[in-house]
Amino acid sequence: MTADKQITRKKFFRYSFYLLTFPLIYLWAKLIEERESLIDTKKLIKIPLDLPNGASVYDDVLIYKQYDLLKIFSASCTHLGCKINKIDSGNFVCPCHGSKYLFNGEVSEGPAYKSLKQLDYKIDQKEKVILVEINGKV
Ligand code: FES
Repeated sequence: MTADKQITRKKFFRYSFYLLTFPLIYLWAKLIEERESLIDTKKLIKIPLDLPNGASVYDDVLIYKQYDLLKIFSASCTHLGCKINKIDSGNFVCPCHGSKYLFNGEVSEGPAYKSLKQLDYKIDQKEKVILVEINGKV
């Protein structure tokens, strides 16, 4: 009788384990899937082609233009991902912890140590815009 109860108890714990574990694994997989779909989200930014020379912040990108030279960077700070939204004394400046980046994307002052992510772009002469595709949130 005692042996039956122990087996029953073992079965109870085993079934309980499965009943609790499988839903948790399912939820975990759903969370990962949702997170990946957020990362895969793409956003198309259209920048007017007649942008003036110099540095500018436009939507979720940072732009540096000097005649034919055009560099476009993600506005996501390489320190902890805050959106860079300011230009000061020849630098793009992050509002969160003050990291500064030169207009070529290199760090001029930490705490960030990695350069800004430079983005590819296409020029649409018909619409007179610069097209930049960025991933997810910035
Ligand atoms: S997130 Fe930009 S300096 Fe920390």
